[in-house]
Amino acid sequence: MVCVELARLAEECGLNAVALHARTREQGYSGDARWEWIAAVKSALHIPVIGNGDIRLPQDATAMGAQTGCDGVMIGRTAASNPWIFRQIAQWNQSGAYEEPAQADRYQMIRTYFRMLIDEEMPGAAGKMKQFASWFTHGVANGSALRKAIYEARNEREILERVENFFESNETSARGPETESALVG
Ligand SMILES: Cc1cc2nc3c(=O)[nH]c(=O)nc-3n(C[C@H](O)[C@H](O)[C@H](O)COP(=O)(O)O)c2cc1C
Repeated sequence: MVCVELARLAEECGLNAVALHARTREQGYSGDARWEWIAAVKSALHIPVIGNGDIRLPQDATAMGAQTGCDGVMIGRTAASNPWIFRQIAQWNQSGAYEEPAQADRYQMIRTYFRMLIDEEMPGAAGKMKQFASWFTHGVANGSALRKAIYEARNEREILERVENFFESNETSARGPETESALVG
C-alpha cells in the first residue's frame, strides 16, 4: 500500500508524526475516506499517526479513533463550517453530549473573523470573506440570503455591514429556538 510505504519512509527519515487524509488523488473529495488505510498506517508505524477524512460530527472522531487506533484526528472542512467541532468533541468525550452553537454564536464568529481581516488590513480581505462565506453560513437560518448579500457586496466594509444587518434584522429568528445553545446527545 503506497500510504504505508510512504509513512514508513517518513518515520525512517526521522519525522515526529504523520497525518493521513485517506483518499486518493483521483478521488479528490468524493466518496468516503478509507479509514482502513489509517489503521494500516497506524499498525505499521511507531510514531504518532493522525487520521483525517470525513469527520463531520464529534461521534465521527470517536469512531475514527476506535476503528483505526489513530493517536489524533485532523479536521478539514468541518473546521470551517462548524468551528465549534473541537469543543464539541471534548464535550462528547467527557459527557456523551455536546452543545450546538446558537445563531448568536454564529454571528459573533463571522463578525469577529471579518473584523480581524479588516483591522489587520489583510490584502484581498473581501475575496477571503467571500471565499469563507459559503463555509460560515452553513447552519445559519436563511443562510442562502446571507451568502447572496456577501457575494454581491463591493468591498470588505460593505460585506461586514451586510453581515451585521442580516443578523440584527433577523432578530426574530435569532430569538427563535436556536437562540440558546442546544444540547445534543
Ligand atoms: C479550504 C481547504 C483548504 C485546504 N488546504 C490544505 C492545505 O493547505 N494543505 C493540506 O495538506 N491540505 C489542505 N486541505 C485538505 C484538508 O487538510 C483535509 O485533508 C481534507 O479536507 C479532508 O479532510 P476533511 O474530510 O476533514 O475535510 C484543505 C481543505 C480545504 C477544504
